[in-house]
Amino acid sequence: MDKLLIAPSTDPVKTVEDIIKYANEIKNDADLLHCDIMDGKFVENKTFSYDVVQIIREKTLLPLDVHLMVEKPTKLLKKFAQSGANIITVHFEAYKSKNKLIKDLKTLRKMGVLSGLSIKPNTEVGEIVSLLGFCDFILIMSVQPGKSGQEFIEKTYSKVSELNKIKKDYDARIKIEVDGGINPEISHKLKELGADVIVSGSYVYSSNDRQMAISNLR
Ligand code: DX5
Ligand code: ZN
Repeated sequence: MDKLLIAPSTDPVKTVEDIIKYANEIKNDADLLHCDIMDGKFVENKTFSYDVVQIIREKTLLPLDVHLMVEKPTKLLKKFAQSGANIITVHFEAYKSKNKLIKDLKTLRKMGVLSGLSIKPNTEVGEIVSLLGFCDFILIMSVQPGKSGQEFIEKTYSKVSELNKIKKDYDARIKIEVDGGINPEISHKLKELGADVIVSGSYVYSSNDRQMAISNLR
């Protein structure tokens, strides 16, 4: 089994200066820096945009995993790619048309970025099976998107195993990423069920020993 990747998120960190400090502190332990982008429309809260991603890019070598919780992702993809994102994840629920979504996932790959697709807790895995061939990452939300510090939704376990079974059956080249409410106990269960990447907001950020927190999740 491959090593479980850990992606601490920017969501609990208040300022850009603190994000850069945080990235520096975790750079030898974390695998990715998960950048949570919120537009105040797709979700209630609002965070930073691509201009800040570019600043972060200039200050860290950690691969940037950009999670777009925005209503209209299409027009932003190029900007985020140019700002140095390595993975860009859009939400299934932000699209009215599957063709438009496929077009965006293809655009990401054409720009040299890994393509990610996220589903909210109430969206079933079955809805995205026909899209797996266009995706490098599937981000299963285990809390409602919008803020860190919420409780893990138990139904996520069955969604991860269902997706892992489909991944094996079709020999799909996707990485399964899970985001929200994850502590070490949950992380170990998710790994058993087929998760490849764990996003962590509050668990790692609020820990006194972040190196240990990352290793505990792994
Ligand atoms: C939730 C974000 C998450 C968040 C996770 O909207 O997408 O990435 O930072 O934070 P925790 O781990 O605290 O739930
Ligand atoms: Zn996220």
